[in-house]
Amino acid sequence: MSRKIHIFDTTLRDGEQVPGAKLNKRQKFEIAQQLANLNVDVIEAGFPCSSPGDLDAVREISRHVRGPVIAALARAVKEDIDIAWEAVCEAQRPRVHVFLGSSDIHIQKKLRSDRKKAMEMAVEAVKYARGLCPEVEFSTEDGSRTEFEFLCRIIEETIKAGASVINVPDTVGYALPEEFGELIRRLRESVPALDRVILSVHCHNDLGLAVANSMAAIRNGADQVECTINGIGERAGNASLEEIVMVLKTRFENYQAITGINTQEIYRTSRMVSRIMNIPVQPNKAIVGSNAFSHSSGIHQDGILKDRTTYEIMKPEELGIKQQTLVLTARSGRAALRHRLSEIGFTLDPETFERVYNRFIDVADRKKEIGAQDLQSIVEIEVSKVPETFKMHTMQIMSGNKMVPLASVTLERDGELYTDAATGDGPVDAVFKGIERITGITGKLRDYDLKAVTMGRDALGEAMVRVEIGDTVYSGIGSSPDVIEASALAYLNACNRYFANGGAQKIQSSGEFKS
Ligand code: KIV
Ligand code: ZN
Repeated sequence: MSRKIHIFDTTLRDGEQVPGAKLNKRQKFEIAQQLANLNVDVIEAGFPCSSPGDLDAVREISRHVRGPVIAALARAVKEDIDIAWEAVCEAQRPRVHVFLGSSDIHIQKKLRSDRKKAMEMAVEAVKYARGLCPEVEFSTEDGSRTEFEFLCRIIEETIKAGASVINVPDTVGYALPEEFGELIRRLRESVPALDRVILSVHCHNDLGLAVANSMAAIRNGADQVECTINGIGERAGNASLEEIVMVLKTRFENYQAITGINTQEIYRTSRMVSRIMNIPVQPNKAIVGSNAFSHSSGIHQDGILKDRTTYEIMKPEELGIKQQTLVLTARSGRAALRHRLSEIGFTLDPETFERVYNRFIDVADRKKEIGAQDLQSIVEIEVSKVPETFKMHTMQIMSGNKMVPLASVTLERDGELYTDAATGDGPVDAVFKGIERITGITGKLRDYDLKAVTMGRDALGEAMVRVEIGDTVYSGIGSSPDVIEASALAYLNACNRYFANGGAQKIQSSGEFKS
């Protein structure tokens, strides 16, 4: 008989705590909908008391995303709990997630309190939350460093107060798998009331052990794991959802446990989160990295050609990674493009389809063949576009090993063309400066990442930037067979995000905007 492990996804809360990964309402909603397609059990949609924008985003998700439980985080204080409840009360299945530090370090140093008061605070908060919301989760923050007897008592008392989910986090990623597994086993043995609730774990990756610790906890009786797509999260991140799910699936005999995850949606979700949050996935990342299913050594390639199981323990198709079957060229018409898009899982509204088609023709004119990954990149970028205050019209670069790079850029705004030129430390810097001269924006480049979408010299380049404009960091993405153009499109995308956020008025009124 197999056990069900509940997958609690906290990409939109712990994952969003990554610096610069702050999402707007539309972006959070898009990811939440995809998490529902992935069939996670719980979406932790945010920490509503952190900002009115987050409250609004969580409320929107609660109203419209159906299937998973929608949870909102709250500190163990009434004001937070009220706001969390306000955010999730319209969800099909709402949950308020209350947390309080339970280790002496947290109680004494952070809360400047003592165990007795912390216990009272936890019990009171859970009772209050339970008075509002039918489902309350209580987290013993820094649980893995909490004195065992106190941990048992606070769990017992919060269950009595009405918590139906108890979460034991390894907040600082300090635990070792044997130790953490043993902690969960002893808790189950010492707190019989845990049999009446869901026992959850939440592991951080400071020592690279978040997944190993989560697996040890599952083996020793945890019912729920808290995790994020691509393992993103505070500091070194959280346990990666896709790794936990695929360990349970691939090594079913060892764990005898299943999840409800639709694994075919894993790859698409990973790409979406990476793109929207602008956090690249490292190539060797297990399960979803670009190298996870590529074989480079001759011996391995030979084995794979004879039988894939020689060097592959999972099938890429299980994760929704499409094989490169049919390739498109500039001569492929709309029907072929539409067919190929539906094969790789995209059904687009007519307007988006036209945009994708135009971009596809533009790229295909310069790159002989367009494969599934190229197409995926084109679609993802077009779908995620904000309204384009400025559109790229043309750009020209002069660069060489013995000259100062010079970029001439023409952007279109409301049907008018604006041209300017700039020199820079390199061609990318020059083109960014050209864009800045036209838009009037001066941004600080916080992050820049460029990668090839596929193999080969004519590969499509995908650039991601994070640009600080004023006191906010905006992300941007662009792709093109020309890597300088991909970079320029990414930079322009970040500028357009700034304008979409109200920056346009500032520029117009300051009159900086020039032709
Ligand atoms: O890491 C942690 O302890 C947390 C809690 C709020 C669950 O994120
Ligand atoms: Zn956490």
